[in-house]
Amino acid sequence: MEEKKRYTITAALPYANGPLHLGHLAGAYLPADIFVRYLKAKGNDVAFICGSDEHGAAITLRAKKEDCTPQEIVDKNHEIIKKSFADFGIDFDIYHRTSSKLHHETASQIFKDLYDKGSFTQETTNQFFDQEHQQFLADRYVTGTCPKCNSAGAYGDQCEKCGSSLNANELINPISTLSGKTPVLKETTHWFLPMNKHEKWLKTWIETGILDGKQQHDPTKWRKQVIGQCKSWIDNGLQPRSITRDLDWGVKVPVEGGEGKVLYVWFDAPIGYISATKQWAADNSKNWEDYWKDSNTQLIHFIGKDNIVFHGIIFPIILKEHGDFILPTNVPANEFLNLEGDKISTSRNWAVWLHEYLEDFPNKQDELRYVLTSIAPETKDSEFTWKDFQARVNNELVAILGNFLNRSIVLTHKYFEGKVPEQGVLTDYDNQVLQAIISTQNRVDELIESYRFRDAQTEAMTLARLGNKYLADTEPWKLVKTDETRVKTILNVSLQLCLGLSEIFKPFLPKTSSRIKQFLNATNETVLTNQHQLNAAELLFQKIEDEAVEAQIEKLKNPTVKQSNPKAKPMKEEITFDDFTKMDIRVATILAAEKHPDADKLLKLTVDTGIDIRTVVSGIAEHYKPEDVIGKQVSMLVNLAPRKIRGIESKGMILMAENNEGSLAFISPEKAMDNGGEVK
Ligand code: MF3
Ligand code: ZN
Repeated sequence: MEEKKRYTITAALPYANGPLHLGHLAGAYLPADIFVRYLKAKGNDVAFICGSDEHGAAITLRAKKEDCTPQEIVDKNHEIIKKSFADFGIDFDIYHRTSSKLHHETASQIFKDLYDKGSFTQETTNQFFDQEHQQFLADRYVTGTCPKCNSAGAYGDQCEKCGSSLNANELINPISTLSGKTPVLKETTHWFLPMNKHEKWLKTWIETGILDGKQQHDPTKWRKQVIGQCKSWIDNGLQPRSITRDLDWGVKVPVEGGEGKVLYVWFDAPIGYISATKQWAADNSKNWEDYWKDSNTQLIHFIGKDNIVFHGIIFPIILKEHGDFILPTNVPANEFLNLEGDKISTSRNWAVWLHEYLEDFPNKQDELRYVLTSIAPETKDSEFTWKDFQARVNNELVAILGNFLNRSIVLTHKYFEGKVPEQGVLTDYDNQVLQAIISTQNRVDELIESYRFRDAQTEAMTLARLGNKYLADTEPWKLVKTDETRVKTILNVSLQLCLGLSEIFKPFLPKTSSRIKQFLNATNETVLTNQHQLNAAELLFQKIEDEAVEAQIEKLKNPTVKQSNPKAKPMKEEITFDDFTKMDIRVATILAAEKHPDADKLLKLTVDTGIDIRTVVSGIAEHYKPEDVIGKQVSMLVNLAPRKIRGIESKGMILMAENNEGSLAFISPEKAMDNGGEVK
């Protein structure tokens, strides 16, 4: 029996300022989910923790742009993100949020504890200030020319063109995004985490895993680039880092002089892991401290590489300095996933959004999980392309796993009424195949424990490939007339393999795995016994057609502009320019108006079209009184064939615009025009 352990597994809290894309899933959430499913299947005690990161200047900026409150922004995105995780089977024990009261209390308390211990320094520095708005500007609120690459539009904290992280006062020609004016420098006081004081223990801890004289983690299990990045930060000399901001959205600074200031988002967000654990523990009668303060607990942070310094240096400093907390045993950070030859960029909409993927490929979450794990950027950046997606689904999921499973079950139904036939005498080949189930399981386990999910999944698929080869080599469909005993053995072995595959693929493809179990009519058994009755099998996977991937590539390259009014009627069928010029639309003035004697909705109008003076009947009586329209200049279709409307001949039509709710407005020229002027 293996020893059961306690684990706290976190996945980076996504910013609630937009939905999730492929890069998020591949970067942190999918590997975390695979790892957790694996650990839980082995009976370990695991808390899988995540939530929305809802503070920071990026969110207040977005709120300003969209003319709403930050709370509205995060409320909306929290729901969208949460749903995407659920849809893709990312099975957190809790998906919490940093705008919650519990989080504010927790973050505030940790800040206060550290403050009381004298863990911070206080410094007065010059910071950009917008005079028009009378407010200090967070780095994100200042834009200008990047001092490193010279491109315009860099943010005060980061240039998105070259990726350098910046200080706002380094920007050339800084501009406040609030007023569009040049900000001035003004003194402000902030609290700093003196990271420089922590260099020594950090260096030893990262490099050797030794903390306070004890082996706390095994550095050979850490990814090279994670240790490398942390070491290079430390070797370059850690600087005091400001952990408060002049902003009104976030966790209030709970000490004297903190009025109008909040905690820096990167100070409070990782504490979100702790507050989420507290909430989960409260909901499930657990003790949250077991998951954060017991040195037997393994704390593991799944993140993308842009988060390494926060999880490998800053958060550990906070945890250690506080005193009661454990430090991470590993920080398996992934590199970046690129998309169709370019970096994923949300601002350029160069992204595949998870919720849109599921609209276009309904129920194909496991297909995406499979492909993203196959190309997981574990050791270097990797690339997602739609052609590759199609190839992996069609050539691997459909042609190997799906095909093997389907053949095994269908043949059993065909020859043996869907009952598992007896195993009989095994050949060396049969034994090899059965052996391979066990050895693959062991190999996959080892790889998962070394955070090599990509290789682990490849091993699993290799086993399915062996199944296909086994059927092709033994050809039971040819033997069925001559050697039924042998056919029984072959199908028995194949079905055991199907059951093994469903187990081995379980952390990677949870939905598929339970479908396989359903076809096999199996629950917890480790072997299928004689005469066990199978259910009917459906196809596990379907081919992705060329058109589907071409449409995705097209969509990426020519994103359709977002529809601003979802209630707007769809566009009518396309017309030619000639069709358009057939309509003779003119500026006209309404000279007189009266109610139609026989209809409540109609006005009888006398109109000067510049060409003639004529009568038009118009259905606007519910929107305008006769006296309101007299003298108005309007647009009028003058060559419409005359029609009798409730007994009055109407010549032409006054053009009106209609609101979602059905209210009407004239299409009037924006300044006085000659009657008869053409509208074209
Ligand atoms: N919101 C950050 C990002 O998306 C990650 C925060 S991780 C946490 O890059 F540790 F701070 F929570
Ligand atoms: Zn730059």
